[in-house]
This record gives sequence, C-alpha cells and structure tokens, in this order.
Amino acid sequence: MTARILSGKEIADAIKREVAEEVATLAESYGFRPGLAVVRVGEDAASSVYVGNKVKTSEELGLVSEHHHLPAETTHAELLKVVDDLNNRDDIDGILVQLPLPRQINEKEILEKISPEKDVDGFNPLNVGRLAQGQNALAPCTPAGIIDMLKRFEIEMRGRHAVVIGRSNIVGRPMAQLLLKQDATVTIAHRYSENLIEITRTADILVVAIGRAGFIRGEFIKPGATVVDVGINNVSDTELAKELFDEAELEKRLKTIEKRGFTLVGDVNPREAREKAANFTPVPGGVGLLTVAMLMRNTLDAAKTRRLKK
Ligand code: GUN
Repeated sequence: MTARILSGKEIADAIKREVAEEVATLAESYGFRPGLAVVRVGEDAASSVYVGNKVKTSEELGLVSEHHHLPAETTHAELLKVVDDLNNRDDIDGILVQLPLPRQINEKEILEKISPEKDVDGFNPLNVGRLAQGQNALAPCTPAGIIDMLKRFEIEMRGRHAVVIGRSNIVGRPMAQLLLKQDATVTIAHRYSENLIEITRTADILVVAIGRAGFIRGEFIKPGATVVDVGINNVSDTELAKELFDEAELEKRLKTIEKRGFTLVGDVNPREAREKAANFTPVPGGVGLLTVAMLMRNTLDAAKTRRLKK
C-alpha cells in the first residue's frame, strides 16, 4: 500500500481563506477587526520564528495583531501586568503568551491569568476543564487543527480506536479529549507505557507527538491506519536520514543537510509509514501548518463570542 499524503498546506490554506472572508464580513457589518496580541519573552530561536509567522498570518487575513517582545530578564510580576493590561483592553480578542518562558517566570500562573474568553491557545485551566467535560471551548491549536483536517479528509473517527502517543498539555492531552469528543475510543500512551507496539498496532488513527525523530517504525502501524505525525525534529545525521527516506526524497534531504546543517523530520519513519498506512501526514508540510491557521480561527471565534454574543 502507498499511503495517501494528507497535505496540511491544503487544509491550512482553506481555513485561512474562510477566516479572511469572515473577518472581512465582520469589518463591513460591525466595524471591527479581531485583535490578537502575541507576547514573547527572551530570545528562544524557535519562538522567534513561530511568533513571526503568527503575526504575519494575522495581517494577511485582515486581523489586527501586535507583538510584545519583552527582555529575557522580565520578572513574573511584569509579565502578569502585561497580561492584565491585555485582558482589560476591548480591542484585543486573543492573547497568546509564547512558550517556553524564562525560568524566573511561573508559567502556570501566567496561563491562569489569561482571560478564558481571550485564551486563543486554550491553555487556561478553565478551558482545559471545559474541554475535559466535552463542552465547547477554545481548544489548543495543533490538536484542533488535526481534528479539522481529519474531518476535511473524511476520515471517520466515531467508534475507531485512536491512539495518542505523548501527553503534553499542548498536544497529547487535548488531542485525546478532542478525539473523544468525536466519539473515538481513545488510548493515551507515553514513555512509561508497556508493550507500546501492541497498543499502536491496534490504532486506526495514530497521533504521535513525542519529539523523537523517526521513532515510529512500520511495524508499529496497523495496515490501513491513519498516521498523524506531530513531531518536528532537526536531523543532521546522514546515516539516520538514509533510514528514513526513499531514494528520491533522500537526495533532497541530504542537500538540505549540506546547506542548512539539518533537515526536518517527524516522529514517524516516513518511508515505512507510507508502505503501511492508508493516510499519512508529512513533515514538513503536514500538521505544522495547521497550528497558525487554527490560531486565526480561534481568534476570530473569540472575537465573535466576546463582542457579538454578550
Ligand atoms: N510553544 C510551542 N507551541 C506553542 C503553542 O502552540 N502556543 C504557545 N503559546 N507556545 C507554544
């Protein structure tokens, strides 16, 4: 079998197109544009790229965005004050504090401070709790994007066995809740799970978010499964690249390693997954692109709920 490749780009583009249309209608009918504030503290290199994408995409879609870049030595109290001011501003609909935060800042307290109605990351415990109760809530962007993608590719979730590997607050846990909401039978596996392969082999839908390049081999995959690879790992080892890619792809990847020093690899061995799975999300070009698109959708939804429904 050769898996159908699920293009995250196609889905992200569709979501962004829909958001842009709705934003234009809101501006015309109600005279406002959704406002997104992105807060970044310090100089994490990956965060800088992610935040840049978030701000740029907001502008492309007609939202209003602002980027608050605070110095690495910002205190907990100072960051709390920034969040509080954003909570109190009527022109701001969504607040996102980019993680990770420097060590002197208590991440949990910051996330609890973000007003639940402006919590476009879905990390505030009130929204996490709502999601756990199966209520509608602002949900974390990457897993929400994955559900949207599975629906658009018409992959049945009801009654199917969905296995999520990884239990992070950003992906694994909310992913499991969202799959449960779609009536899947859900298993969460993690680093202490015994007989992992026995579990994954029964997965109709396998979502992997563990941060280990190419960890999921073909033998882990039930023939005909849908495999969603959330991992983003930098691989510079050419020997590992040879295990992960078929000839045509390998040539491109080796060139990338030569040029940039690394190539992006997911948590799943793509060569083997393509042979076993019916559907597979590539890295890059898979779910990574959905995150920003869903952030735009969440900001629009937060704006509509807060400004039109009260
Ligand atoms: N860091 C890595 N992923 C995310 C995300 O989705 N949201 C925030 N705020 N920080 C992140």
